[in-house]
Amino acid sequence: MQLSPTAKSLFTALPGPVRGGAAETYLKYLKAREGRLDLATRTLSQREPFFVRMAEQPVRATMDLDHARFHRNHASDQPEADLSREMLWLLAVAKANRTECYGMEAHIVVNGILDGEKADTQAYVDMQEVYHTRILLDVLRCFGLEIEIGRPALAARISVQAMVRLPQRVALPLILCSEFIATVVFRLLLDRGRELFGHMPEVWSRASTLLQQIMIDEVGHISYCHARLGPLGLSAARALLPAVAASLLSDQKEFALLVGRARFAEACATFNLDAITEGCGEKPFWLGEVSVA
Ligand SMILES: [Fe+2]
Ligand SMILES: [Fe+2]
Repeated sequence: MQLSPTAKSLFTALPGPVRGGAAETYLKYLKAREGRLDLATRTLSQREPFFVRMAEQPVRATMDLDHARFHRNHASDQPEADLSREMLWLLAVAKANRTECYGMEAHIVVNGILDGEKADTQAYVDMQEVYHTRILLDVLRCFGLEIEIGRPALAARISVQAMVRLPQRVALPLILCSEFIATVVFRLLLDRGRELFGHMPEVWSRASTLLQQIMIDEVGHISYCHARLGPLGLSAARALLPAVAASLLSDQKEFALLVGRARFAEACATFNLDAITEGCGEKPFWLGEVSVA
Protein backbone atom coordinates (compact mmCIF):
# COMPACT_ATOMS: atom_id res chain seq x y z
CA MET A 1 0.00 0.00 0.00
CA GLN A 2 1.57 3.30 -1.19
CA LEU A 3 0.93 6.21 1.17
CA SER A 4 0.63 9.99 0.75
CA PRO A 5 3.15 12.25 2.54
CA THR A 6 0.64 12.93 5.37
CA ALA A 7 -0.14 9.24 5.77
CA LYS A 8 3.57 8.38 5.69
CA SER A 9 4.32 10.99 8.33
CA LEU A 10 1.98 9.11 10.69
CA PHE A 11 4.38 6.20 10.67
CA THR A 12 7.47 8.33 11.33
CA ALA A 13 8.25 9.20 14.94
CA LEU A 14 7.56 12.75 16.12
CA PRO A 15 10.38 14.71 17.82
CA GLY A 16 11.06 13.69 21.44
CA PRO A 17 9.76 16.88 23.09
CA VAL A 18 6.47 16.70 21.12
CA ARG A 19 6.03 13.07 22.14
CA GLY A 20 6.92 13.76 25.77
CA GLY A 21 4.36 16.56 26.09
CA ALA A 22 1.62 14.95 23.98
CA ALA A 23 -0.57 13.59 26.79
CA GLU A 24 -0.54 16.91 28.63
CA THR A 25 -1.11 19.05 25.53
CA TYR A 26 -4.00 16.83 24.43
CA LEU A 27 -5.53 16.79 27.91
CA LYS A 28 -5.53 20.60 27.98
CA TYR A 29 -7.27 20.67 24.61
CA LEU A 30 -9.78 18.01 25.66
CA LYS A 31 -10.68 19.65 28.97
CA ALA A 32 -11.18 23.02 27.27
CA ARG A 33 -13.33 21.48 24.52
CA GLU A 34 -15.27 18.83 26.43
CA GLY A 35 -15.63 20.11 29.99
CA ARG A 36 -16.10 17.72 32.89
CA LEU A 37 -16.17 13.98 32.37
CA ASP A 38 -18.80 12.04 34.31
CA LEU A 39 -18.59 8.27 34.06
CA ALA A 40 -21.88 7.60 35.89
CA THR A 41 -23.90 9.48 33.29
CA ARG A 42 -21.39 8.86 30.51
CA THR A 43 -21.30 12.50 29.62
CA LEU A 44 -18.89 15.33 28.85
CA SER A 45 -20.43 18.52 30.21
CA GLN A 46 -19.67 20.78 27.26
CA ARG A 47 -20.79 18.25 24.74
CA GLU A 48 -24.25 17.74 26.20
CA PRO A 49 -25.86 21.05 25.10
CA PHE A 50 -25.33 20.02 21.47
CA PHE A 51 -27.28 16.80 22.03
CA VAL A 52 -30.02 18.60 23.96
CA ARG A 53 -30.45 20.99 21.00
CA MET A 54 -30.60 18.03 18.61
CA ALA A 55 -33.21 16.24 20.73
CA GLU A 56 -35.33 19.39 20.96
CA GLN A 57 -35.36 19.81 17.20
CA PRO A 58 -35.75 16.31 15.79
CA VAL A 59 -35.32 15.86 12.05
CA ARG A 60 -36.95 12.98 10.19
CA ALA A 61 -36.45 11.95 6.58
CA THR A 62 -39.62 11.42 4.57
CA MET A 63 -38.11 8.88 2.18
CA ASP A 64 -39.56 5.45 1.52
CA LEU A 65 -37.54 2.91 3.45
CA ASP A 66 -38.16 -0.79 3.92
CA HIS A 67 -37.65 -0.95 7.69
CA ALA A 68 -38.12 -4.72 7.89
CA ARG A 69 -35.43 -5.23 5.27
CA PHE A 70 -33.09 -2.88 7.10
CA HIS A 71 -33.53 -4.72 10.41
CA ARG A 72 -33.21 -8.13 8.76
CA ASN A 73 -29.89 -7.13 7.23
CA HIS A 74 -28.74 -5.41 10.39
CA ALA A 75 -29.15 -8.71 12.21
CA SER A 76 -27.35 -10.66 9.48
CA ASP A 77 -23.65 -11.03 8.59
CA GLN A 78 -24.43 -11.38 4.89
CA PRO A 79 -26.13 -8.50 3.09
CA GLU A 80 -29.02 -9.53 0.84
CA ALA A 81 -28.57 -9.10 -2.89
CA ASP A 82 -29.70 -5.88 -4.59
CA LEU A 83 -29.78 -3.61 -1.56
CA SER A 84 -30.13 0.01 -2.63
CA ARG A 85 -27.17 2.32 -2.08
CA GLU A 86 -29.21 4.23 0.49
CA MET A 87 -29.84 1.00 2.40
CA LEU A 88 -26.15 0.03 2.18
CA TRP A 89 -25.21 3.42 3.61
CA LEU A 90 -27.62 3.11 6.52
CA LEU A 91 -26.43 -0.43 7.27
CA ALA A 92 -22.79 0.67 7.03
CA VAL A 93 -23.51 3.44 9.56
CA ALA A 94 -25.35 1.00 11.84
CA LYS A 95 -22.42 -1.43 11.78
CA ALA A 96 -19.56 1.10 11.67
CA ASN A 97 -19.08 1.21 15.39
CA ARG A 98 -19.82 -2.33 16.48
CA THR A 99 -16.28 -3.34 17.25
CA GLU A 100 -15.45 -0.02 18.88
CA CYS A 101 -18.58 -0.09 21.03
CA TYR A 102 -17.91 -3.68 22.11
CA GLY A 103 -14.26 -2.76 22.77
CA MET A 104 -15.14 0.29 24.82
CA GLU A 105 -17.57 -1.62 27.04
CA ALA A 106 -14.94 -4.36 27.55
CA HIS A 107 -12.32 -1.72 28.32
CA ILE A 108 -14.58 -0.02 30.90
CA VAL A 109 -15.16 -3.37 32.63
CA VAL A 110 -11.47 -4.43 32.56
CA ASN A 111 -9.63 -1.13 33.01
CA GLY A 112 -12.24 1.41 34.13
CA ILE A 113 -12.26 5.12 33.30
CA LEU A 114 -11.14 7.92 35.61
CA ASP A 115 -13.66 10.74 35.86
CA GLY A 116 -14.15 14.22 37.30
CA GLU A 117 -10.92 15.86 38.47
CA LYS A 118 -9.04 12.59 38.02
CA ALA A 119 -9.95 12.18 34.35
CA ASP A 120 -6.80 11.80 32.27
CA THR A 121 -6.18 11.99 28.53
CA GLN A 122 -7.16 8.38 27.94
CA ALA A 123 -10.39 8.84 29.90
CA TYR A 124 -11.44 11.68 27.59
CA VAL A 125 -10.51 9.68 24.50
CA ASP A 126 -12.56 6.75 25.82
CA MET A 127 -15.56 8.94 26.55
CA GLN A 128 -15.41 10.41 23.05
CA GLU A 129 -15.66 6.84 21.76
CA VAL A 130 -18.77 6.34 23.90
CA TYR A 131 -20.24 9.44 22.22
CA HIS A 132 -19.53 7.99 18.78
CA THR A 133 -21.97 5.17 19.40
CA ARG A 134 -24.58 7.68 20.52
CA ILE A 135 -23.88 9.86 17.46
CA LEU A 136 -24.40 6.97 15.05
CA LEU A 137 -27.70 6.09 16.73
CA ASP A 138 -28.75 9.74 16.29
CA VAL A 139 -27.81 9.65 12.60
CA LEU A 140 -30.04 6.60 12.09
CA ARG A 141 -32.82 8.29 14.05
CA CYS A 142 -32.89 10.99 11.33
CA PHE A 143 -34.09 8.19 9.03
CA GLY A 144 -36.66 6.88 11.51
CA LEU A 145 -34.48 3.91 12.49
CA GLU A 146 -34.07 2.77 16.10
CA ILE A 147 -31.49 0.06 16.66
CA GLU A 148 -29.42 -1.59 19.32
CA ILE A 149 -25.75 -1.86 18.38
CA GLY A 150 -25.08 -5.49 17.47
CA ARG A 151 -22.11 -7.61 18.57
CA PRO A 152 -19.13 -7.79 16.20
CA ALA A 153 -18.05 -11.10 14.66
CA LEU A 154 -16.18 -13.62 16.83
CA ALA A 155 -12.74 -12.79 15.35
CA ALA A 156 -13.24 -9.09 16.12
CA ARG A 157 -14.41 -9.92 19.66
CA ILE A 158 -11.29 -12.00 20.28
CA SER A 159 -8.94 -9.30 18.99
CA VAL A 160 -10.76 -6.64 21.07
CA GLN A 161 -10.49 -8.75 24.22
CA ALA A 162 -6.76 -9.15 23.54
CA MET A 163 -6.34 -5.41 22.92
CA VAL A 164 -7.97 -4.34 26.18
CA ARG A 165 -5.91 -6.85 28.17
CA LEU A 166 -2.54 -6.35 26.47
CA PRO A 167 -0.16 -3.73 27.85
CA GLN A 168 -0.91 -0.48 26.00
CA ARG A 169 2.51 -0.29 24.36
CA VAL A 170 1.85 -3.65 22.70
CA ALA A 171 -1.68 -2.75 21.64
CA LEU A 172 -0.83 0.79 20.42
CA PRO A 173 0.35 -0.08 16.87
CA LEU A 174 -2.94 -1.87 16.28
CA ILE A 175 -4.89 1.00 17.85
CA LEU A 176 -3.14 3.52 15.55
CA CYS A 177 -4.13 1.46 12.52
CA SER A 178 -7.72 1.15 13.77
CA GLU A 179 -8.01 4.92 14.36
CA PHE A 180 -6.55 5.64 10.92
CA ILE A 181 -8.89 3.21 9.16
CA ALA A 182 -11.93 4.42 11.14
CA THR A 183 -11.21 8.00 10.07
CA VAL A 184 -11.03 7.00 6.40
CA VAL A 185 -14.28 5.02 6.77
CA PHE A 186 -16.16 7.98 8.25
CA ARG A 187 -14.79 10.33 5.57
CA LEU A 188 -16.07 8.00 2.86
CA LEU A 189 -19.43 7.63 4.62
CA LEU A 190 -19.70 11.43 4.69
CA ASP A 191 -18.85 11.65 0.98
CA ARG A 192 -21.24 8.89 -0.06
CA GLY A 193 -23.93 10.20 2.28
CA ARG A 194 -23.78 13.63 0.66
CA GLU A 195 -24.25 12.06 -2.77
CA LEU A 196 -27.19 9.97 -1.58
CA PHE A 197 -28.98 12.34 0.80
CA GLY A 198 -27.72 15.82 -0.16
CA HIS A 199 -31.07 16.46 -1.87
CA MET A 200 -32.71 16.41 1.58
CA PRO A 201 -30.94 19.47 3.03
CA GLU A 202 -32.42 19.34 6.52
CA VAL A 203 -31.73 15.65 7.02
CA TRP A 204 -28.28 15.76 5.49
CA SER A 205 -27.30 18.84 7.46
CA ARG A 206 -28.20 17.01 10.69
CA ALA A 207 -26.60 13.69 9.76
CA SER A 208 -23.41 15.28 8.45
CA THR A 209 -23.05 17.58 11.48
CA LEU A 210 -23.18 14.48 13.66
CA LEU A 211 -20.69 12.50 11.56
CA GLN A 212 -18.31 15.47 11.39
CA GLN A 213 -18.07 15.37 15.19
CA ILE A 214 -16.72 11.84 14.92
CA MET A 215 -14.20 12.95 12.29
CA ILE A 216 -12.79 15.72 14.48
CA ASP A 217 -12.44 13.32 17.44
CA GLU A 218 -10.89 10.51 15.42
CA VAL A 219 -8.24 12.74 13.83
CA GLY A 220 -7.22 13.79 17.36
CA HIS A 221 -7.05 10.12 18.38
CA ILE A 222 -4.78 9.35 15.45
CA SER A 223 -2.44 12.17 16.33
CA TYR A 224 -2.28 11.26 20.02
CA CYS A 225 -1.73 7.59 19.28
CA HIS A 226 0.99 8.52 16.77
CA ALA A 227 2.74 10.61 19.43
CA ARG A 228 2.76 7.72 21.88
CA LEU A 229 4.70 5.43 19.56
CA GLY A 230 8.44 5.32 18.87
CA PRO A 231 10.13 4.15 15.64
CA LEU A 232 9.74 0.46 16.47
CA GLY A 233 6.03 0.67 17.29
CA LEU A 234 5.42 2.82 14.23
CA SER A 235 7.08 0.37 11.88
CA ALA A 236 4.96 -2.37 13.43
CA ALA A 237 1.87 -0.22 12.80
CA ARG A 238 2.90 0.42 9.18
CA ALA A 239 3.33 -3.32 8.66
CA LEU A 240 -0.09 -4.01 10.20
CA LEU A 241 -2.00 -1.39 8.19
CA PRO A 242 -2.87 -3.50 5.10
CA ALA A 243 -4.17 -6.33 7.31
CA VAL A 244 -6.30 -3.96 9.39
CA ALA A 245 -7.70 -2.41 6.19
CA ALA A 246 -8.48 -5.86 4.77
CA SER A 247 -10.19 -7.02 7.95
CA LEU A 248 -12.36 -3.88 8.00
CA LEU A 249 -13.61 -4.68 4.50
CA SER A 250 -14.37 -8.30 5.34
CA ASP A 251 -16.10 -7.28 8.59
CA GLN A 252 -18.14 -4.44 7.13
CA LYS A 253 -19.60 -5.89 4.00
CA GLU A 254 -22.16 -3.17 3.39
CA PHE A 255 -19.44 -0.53 3.54
CA ALA A 256 -17.29 -2.58 1.13
CA LEU A 257 -20.20 -2.90 -1.31
CA LEU A 258 -21.06 0.78 -1.07
CA VAL A 259 -17.57 2.22 -1.44
CA GLY A 260 -15.66 -0.48 -3.29
CA ARG A 261 -12.22 -1.88 -2.48
CA ALA A 262 -10.37 0.32 -4.95
CA ARG A 263 -11.85 3.58 -3.64
CA PHE A 264 -11.17 2.54 -0.05
CA ALA A 265 -7.53 1.69 -0.83
CA GLU A 266 -7.14 4.99 -2.67
CA ALA A 267 -8.62 6.95 0.27
CA CYS A 268 -6.22 5.24 2.70
CA ALA A 269 -3.26 5.92 0.41
CA THR A 270 -4.10 9.58 -0.21
CA PHE A 271 -4.98 10.45 3.41
CA ASN A 272 -4.64 14.19 3.75
CA LEU A 273 -5.59 16.27 6.76
CA ASP A 274 -7.45 19.03 4.87
CA ALA A 275 -9.36 16.57 2.70
CA ILE A 276 -10.25 14.31 5.60
CA THR A 277 -11.71 17.14 7.70
CA GLU A 278 -13.26 19.03 4.77
CA GLY A 279 -16.50 20.74 5.77
CA CYS A 280 -16.07 19.88 9.45
CA GLY A 281 -15.98 23.54 10.51
CA GLU A 282 -13.43 22.92 13.23
CA LYS A 283 -9.71 22.28 13.22
CA PRO A 284 -8.88 18.93 14.80
CA PHE A 285 -6.18 18.35 17.40
CA TRP A 286 -3.00 17.54 15.48
CA LEU A 287 0.56 17.31 16.79
CA GLY A 288 2.49 16.53 13.63
CA GLU A 289 3.53 18.91 10.93
CA VAL A 290 0.92 19.21 8.24
CA SER A 291 2.38 18.14 4.94
CA VAL A 292 0.48 18.87 1.78
CA ALA A 293 -0.15 15.73 -0.23
FE1 LIG B 1 -14.60 6.37 17.46
FE1 LIG C 1 -11.01 6.70 17.97
